[in-house]
Amino acid sequence: MSAHEKVNILMVDDQPAKLLSYEAILGELGENLIKANSGKEALEQLLTTDVAVVLMDVSMPDIDGFELADMIRQHPRFQKVAIIFISAIHLTDLDRLKGYERGAVDYISVPVNPELLRAKVSIFAELHRNALQLETLNAELRSLSASIIAAQDEERRRIARELHDSLGQDLAAAKMILEGLDLRTASAPLISRATVEACSIIDHAMQQVRSMSHLLHPPMLDEVGLHSALRWYVDGFAKRSGIETLLEFQPAVFPRVASEVERTIFRIIQEALTNVWRHSKAQRAWISVAKRDGQVISSVRDDGTGISADIAEFRPGSIGVGISGMRQRVKELAGDLGLTNAEPGTIVRFTLPVRTAVPEAASVPIDLSGAFVERGKPDR
Ligand SMILES: Nc1ncnc2c1ncn2[C@@H]1O[C@H](COP(=O)(O)OP(=O)(O)O)[C@@H](O)[C@H]1O
Ligand SMILES: [Mg+2]
Repeated sequence: MSAHEKVNILMVDDQPAKLLSYEAILGELGENLIKANSGKEALEQLLTTDVAVVLMDVSMPDIDGFELADMIRQHPRFQKVAIIFISAIHLTDLDRLKGYERGAVDYISVPVNPELLRAKVSIFAELHRNALQLETLNAELRSLSASIIAAQDEERRRIARELHDSLGQDLAAAKMILEGLDLRTASAPLISRATVEACSIIDHAMQQVRSMSHLLHPPMLDEVGLHSALRWYVDGFAKRSGIETLLEFQPAVFPRVASEVERTIFRIIQEALTNVWRHSKAQRAWISVAKRDGQVISSVRDDGTGISADIAEFRPGSIGVGISGMRQRVKELAGDLGLTNAEPGTIVRFTLPVRTAVPEAASVPIDLSGAFVERGKPDR
């Protein structure tokens, strides 16, 4: 449910003329108006449609409005439907109104004041819309947390595999070399050769630990700033993936911004690039990060297969934990995220409001090339 989606308003009256006049009054609210000529018809409508507000005449021939309200309230699904009675209200009627403990109840006395009626209906319609939106958000949140747990599991499996397959192999190889060396009998050149070999393997293992720990958490982000950290990451990505990746900053000497903003930008670009690698079959990717008018505007574009409309509209079921996570991060900082099919390719674009972290401070590019170890392709 979006903020502007129409909700249904059910108008119940046995006199067609009155229904027409309610229709005229409520028309400008822009909601769906449904008419029912009797209590029976109203119940039929309620069973098939999601109704936000029931507007009903108290005096009707077959069942009166209060009886109908009782029947509606007895149904668990309708206990919270808002009901507005239209009646010449007597004190006894007011007492009956108090009897409805659950759900919203209101009344309008006759002659009907059009503005008052519109105001009451529109408040209940808005409440209903908000409740539906909340439900949608809750469902999204539930599915997001389920996929986060799955992603966490997958990440652990990946790290376990990485530790076992590469780090474990390196350490085992180094141990084998050292164990095979009998210092009492081995010649000096043999010892020297084995030492060089073991050291080189251990170096490789150390680099892997560093690379893995940086990918899990980019510690240099806080220290060296977004510019250098991203440059380091993008260079590594380009080498590992073979996708030619360009990174542009505006201004070229990029100012430092609040650390949570830098972290968000880094993580979104990281996820967008991982998606380019995993899904797009792209040859090239372009990243731009610009700061202007108190905002950071950033985009990641590729020349690959593009995305479906479902994904561009963030339809639940079509997006995964990556895009959901991007949305969540942007939302937390009151920013905006959009995905577009650029034909060819995909554009992930986001803006975040920023305040400069330290006035005048800029993240001077620092060479981090040593921090990255080129090791085959990134994990899919
Ligand atoms: N750059 C891209 N090019 C093509 N498809 C993409 C791209 N980015 C995302 N997608 C599509 O969007 C889907 C959801 O992405 P995401 O939420 O990151 O989940 P995951 O990567 O785990 O599948 C992907 O499965 C893929 O189909
Ligand atoms: Mg992804």
